[in-house]
Amino acid sequence: MCTLEGRGNVEEWREAARAFLLGGVLPDLICWRTNGETMGLFGVETPFPPPLPEFSSPKVPPDFIKLAGAVICHSDPGRFSLLYRLLFRLMHERRLLDMMSDADVVAARQMAKSVGRDYHKMTAFVRFKELPLPAETAGRRKFIAWFEPDHFIVERAAPFFQRRFNDMDWLIATPKGAASWDGVELKSTSEPAEKPDLKDETDDLWRTYYASIFNPARLKVKAMTSEMPKKYWKNLPEADLIPGLIANAEASVMEMAARAASEPLPFHHRLQEVAASVQHAPSLPVGSHAALKEEASRCTLCDLHCMATQTVFGEGPVDADVMIVGEQPGDQEDLAGKPFVGPAGQLFNDVLKQVGLDRQRLYVTNAVKHFKYEPRGKRRIHQKPNRGEIQQCRWWLKQELDLVKPKLVVAMGATAYFALTDEQHKLADVRSKPMVMQDGQTLFVTVHPSYLLRIPEPEKKAVELLRFREDVESIQRLARSFA
Ligand code: URA
Repeated sequence: MCTLEGRGNVEEWREAARAFLLGGVLPDLICWRTNGETMGLFGVETPFPPPLPEFSSPKVPPDFIKLAGAVICHSDPGRFSLLYRLLFRLMHERRLLDMMSDADVVAARQMAKSVGRDYHKMTAFVRFKELPLPAETAGRRKFIAWFEPDHFIVERAAPFFQRRFNDMDWLIATPKGAASWDGVELKSTSEPAEKPDLKDETDDLWRTYYASIFNPARLKVKAMTSEMPKKYWKNLPEADLIPGLIANAEASVMEMAARAASEPLPFHHRLQEVAASVQHAPSLPVGSHAALKEEASRCTLCDLHCMATQTVFGEGPVDADVMIVGEQPGDQEDLAGKPFVGPAGQLFNDVLKQVGLDRQRLYVTNAVKHFKYEPRGKRRIHQKPNRGEIQQCRWWLKQELDLVKPKLVVAMGATAYFALTDEQHKLADVRSKPMVMQDGQTLFVTVHPSYLLRIPEPEKKAVELLRFREDVESIQRLARSFA
């Protein structure tokens, strides 16, 4: 028997499994259990055996580690032995995980899928309630939520909530553990938590919101209940509206249709004008840089806007011959609302100055307009934008290209290159070789200044700086040839 403390803790299982594996213990000889489970009559802990030489350094494929991370969160008590069986078999059947007809592989993949679904539901259906603070207390606001997951996913989902709700203290309690964040430390436990009393006036807010976005003409009950399964309803303040909204949907659609056929109110156009002036105040020339920038400031195309301070749009003359494209704003750019003003921007400015290129004549922007980061304590650690984020934000880059129509576009780094071409090459293969883009502009690729800042060895740094400077000289020559 092997007893584990954490119900969804892959590290703990991994350590025990590794010890058994090194000792060559057959899967059927271990009975896995978690601390909360009652022991059987013969519940004696199996000691870890001495390691056998042939298993001295078991090689575990990364795919298995990823799969195990999900499967371990499943609530099926058989998950530990299933994983150990897979691990044991993998020592001899290296391609086991590719065998989609193998019963163990199928079972594990299904468990991982179910955990993934549960995780997704948790990110969608947790509803925080604010805890009142004593009147004289200043500081961060405190929130609490209750959720009932199917599996032990709280620890797995906690970093998502940390990213999303970074600026408040929160506790998520569930019957399968709890997680909390206080601005410094993210904690989680798999001990069952008590359901707190959560009714308050924010319930009414949810209800109002839900009722206002409910469109009876688009009602698809099956799709709705599969996206928001009934088992979650009891903890969703808006859920008690659903049966009534469904029951009245037909009548509401008829009413909407009748309303649509009638004449607009006589002052309709005045209301529209007022609404438009509120939305777009102050009104900006359509298609201008200022209008684009204003529109981008409200961009919610991807999730990055949730965490960033603001959209950092490109800047520079709209008739610039040269457009510089970086990756995404960094910490300082996010606060300042301007591209390339932090350490990478300073290095870039220095090299421009050395070469004699005037930054004021360049249009400088980024592939992605929001700062993506991971909070670590008080610091915000830069994270690379993913393909989806780059693709979403390409829309803005395209607007900038159409407006500025630069003759030369400079991609600094792989993200900018991908954003501009939709191609992923090794930067070394495309660097420093002017090429023609789809609409005739010249594209020049170089490294990102942050890459230079990160090089630890002084000699390599000096060499790379020199190469970057040579690239900037090439950019200047190309720019002159277009002038
Ligand atoms: N890195 C970038 O790619 N862009 C900036 O604006 C700053 C750092």
